[in-house]
Amino acid sequence: MDQYRVFGNPIAQSRSPFIHQSFALANKQQLDYKTQLVELENFSAAVHHFITLGGKGINVTVPFKEQALLLSDELTDRARLAGAVNTLSFEKGKIKGDNTDGAGLVQDLQRNNISLKNSRILLLGAGGAAKGVILPLLAQDPERITVANRTLNKAETMCRYFDDKRLTACEFSECIDMSFDLIINATSASLSGNIPAIPSSLINSSVICYDMVYSKVLTPFLAWAKKQGASKVIDGLGMLVGQAAVSFYVWRGILPLVEPVLLDLRTSLEDS
Ligand code: ATR
Repeated sequence: MDQYRVFGNPIAQSRSPFIHQSFALANKQQLDYKTQLVELENFSAAVHHFITLGGKGINVTVPFKEQALLLSDELTDRARLAGAVNTLSFEKGKIKGDNTDGAGLVQDLQRNNISLKNSRILLLGAGGAAKGVILPLLAQDPERITVANRTLNKAETMCRYFDDKRLTACEFSECIDMSFDLIINATSASLSGNIPAIPSSLINSSVICYDMVYSKVLTPFLAWAKKQGASKVIDGLGMLVGQAAVSFYVWRGILPLVEPVLLDLRTSLEDS
């Protein structure tokens, strides 16, 4: 049976085996997908060992996404520009690196009927998570993407890196006079119970707020946005399933349906 893994540290919490086994079942694919805890200094050796065992592909999560990029013999454009790899495939002795995180986000936004063409997007954060979604978002023809970050120079560096006239950088407090259709939180603030300090005047009943993080209850950012009157708030559980669906497509050539797996995951999260 074809073997797949997700490598990370920590990894016990990963929902990826459930997601991929569900996709496999729904699409009559015979495969085995497991988590593997990898020691911090052991990533490259663990990948090569898995290849010698005949493994077909690996998802890579924290903290190995940059190492996976360096280990790849070939990269897709979206992985190269994101500076990170979350999907490895092994073909003809070569390690191919891809990044499906941004595609997972775009797919989830589309699934939620959010129109990105000509939209005005505020992207909060300038770390790895933000970097990974810029290119797939730009590919949807937004009018502009404003990147706001607590540390302004990181947002500026990121905008220069992508070199696209639709991108501008600002501090959280500076975007006060601007209007947005969609605000995406790509900071890790929610993980520590914080919210990015953007002006509350940015949120109104025509603004959709998205948090790339998910949790059992609304994330701090989404709870705040809802209180400010956002038209819709969406967490990152759909992005998680979306990126897995695109990885499955990379490996198996089949794009699985996200919705049924997402419903199961949401139920198990709420029951946990
Ligand atoms: P990731 O890979 O999850 O993006 P990262 O590269 O460490 O992680 O980036 C974390 C991002 O969250 C950064 O944009 C960080 O802002 P700074 O560049 O100013 O550090 C942002 N972040 C983390 N905690 C935050 C908080 N409490 N408020 C606002 N932004 C925060």
